[in-house]
Amino acid sequence: MVILIERDREALSRAAADVVSSAMTRSPSLRLGLAAGTTPVGLYQELVHRHRAGHLDCSRTVVFGLDEYLGLPPEHVASFHSFFHRHLLDQANFDPRHVHLMNGAPTGDAASSCDGYEQTIRGAGGIDLQILGIGLNGHLGFNEPGSSLAARTRPVLLSDETRAALKTGAGYHEDIPDSALTLGLGTIQEARTLLLMASGAGKAAPLAKALEGPVTASLPASVLQCHPNVLVICDESAAAMLARRDYYRRASRFGQRGGLGQPGAGGVEEPGWGG
Ligand code: GLP
Repeated sequence: MVILIERDREALSRAAADVVSSAMTRSPSLRLGLAAGTTPVGLYQELVHRHRAGHLDCSRTVVFGLDEYLGLPPEHVASFHSFFHRHLLDQANFDPRHVHLMNGAPTGDAASSCDGYEQTIRGAGGIDLQILGIGLNGHLGFNEPGSSLAARTRPVLLSDETRAALKTGAGYHEDIPDSALTLGLGTIQEARTLLLMASGAGKAAPLAKALEGPVTASLPASVLQCHPNVLVICDESAAAMLARRDYYRRASRFGQRGGLGQPGAGGVEEPGWGG
């Protein structure tokens, strides 16, 4: 795991955009997992900016979504489907044939649609790079505390604290459903590389527990400790409760000298975020 601590959200967004855009450039048909939430918005803006400046081609990137509200049709303004289109997909040259987002209003049974979504991911060859945020209660995607660390993609009930956080988040709709579809923690762990972004003081406690506490279903993001290729990019406020943050700073500089491999410098197959 490599942990990069950036000054603020703007620097965090730029650092994440460096990683994602260099992975897209190295591997034009990269299978990229997108996350919703306020944290990655700056990353998406940065990618759009690079595309418009002629530095980033998205036409072959294969896109998946991490989660979706259950009960909101794709065209609903508050759906994650709309979010991804508004902030990224409609702003650059993504090919609709390569965009695979969850449908929050499936025609049949929601659990079967989740199974079908897993098959789509598998059929595409798996996710190369999964972008993630962390919830205030340590959730990953919509895997709430208590989720199996091996869970598959499925319908889930949202916790009260998650619904409350979603209602106050920028750009979110008032009418948040009580359930959702999410990639499972087991599914997320199958992605070849994971990029976790965390910003703001509210994320300091869950981030410290996730990275330095025990691996437990009570704190779903702690499952990241079991993945061999994780890059965490956080800002100073989110890093405030990391007991070993000085070591992480030195370790990431060591990585940049070639000791661990520089994030974004290796291939997608070998990004150098291990250890
Ligand atoms: C939602 C999403 C998560 C996201 C989390 C944090 O619950 N399902 O994938 O990581 O919010 O969002 P934010 O970045 O707005 O804090």
